[in-house]
Amino acid sequence: MTKIIAVSGKGGVGKTTVAALLIKWLNNSGVKNLLAIDADPDSNLPEALGTDFEKTIGDIREDLLSANLPPGINKRAWIDSKIFEITKETKNFDLIVMGRPEGQGCYCAVNHILREIIDSMVSAYDYVVIDCEAGMEHLSRRTTENVDVMLIVTDASRKGFETASRIKELAEELDIEINNIFLILNRIKESNKDAAVKIAKSINMEVIGILPEDDIVSECDLKGEPVYELNENSGVYNEVGKVLGKIIEKSGLE
Ligand SMILES: Nc1ncnc2c1ncn2[C@@H]1O[C@H](COP(=O)(O)OP(=O)(O)OP(=O)(O)O)[C@@H](O)[C@H]1O
Ligand SMILES: [Mg+2]
Repeated sequence: MTKIIAVSGKGGVGKTTVAALLIKWLNNSGVKNLLAIDADPDSNLPEALGTDFEKTIGDIREDLLSANLPPGINKRAWIDSKIFEITKETKNFDLIVMGRPEGQGCYCAVNHILREIIDSMVSAYDYVVIDCEAGMEHLSRRTTENVDVMLIVTDASRKGFETASRIKELAEELDIEINNIFLILNRIKESNKDAAVKIAKSINMEVIGILPEDDIVSECDLKGEPVYELNENSGVYNEVGKVLGKIIEKSGLE
């Protein structure tokens, strides 16, 4: 069974960093049959993983809608081949980039086919890690339906916690099948750790990891190096490893 982990939260709290380091951990543990999905329209997961991409699912959708199809071709077969074409393959993982959401026009039929194909594609992998867009849109757009684990990241800011809490509530309201929702506290300094844990408790969320403010991460960012290449002595990398261990233990993933 494919295990699907989605990473969400307010803008700028560290979603992509966490997603990329989870992928690094999984790879280092021998998991290579892994699909990374960049579901943020403002995509930055490829960069964080040290790879690039040419086209997105959004591009395929636009091509379909503007009917740039060769005449007489089967739509499903065409989409299938296009998705294959835009899937970036590396030795450690595959990557697809969702790109921008739909513009104006009737996308229902197109989205339906796309969803079916992506669902069947996902099932060929052992692990799927989704870097969600900031905020809650991914829930109403249903790009994070049926995930095993939703990791919501927040920094030690009120707004971060508010967004985290709303994502959790909305996921419950929309009756989306998310088996486990956990909170990750990121960029936490010793001095505000207790306060942050207290707020998490007050909003009824289970903290699965507390990642420190880490100079090695900042340095990596400033040098423009992919976070996937992060020095393995980094505190954040080590904590993400513990998070993965706990996820596996608590959610029954292997
Ligand atoms: N624990 C940490 N220590 C130091 N810097 C960090 C840490 N976590 C993240 N950062 C830095 O914070 C910035 C935002 O991180 P990141 O891009 O992962 O957030 P994001 O939630 O994906 O943002 P966006 O909403 O824009 O996609 C980056 O510059 C990153 O290097
Ligand atoms: Mg990001």
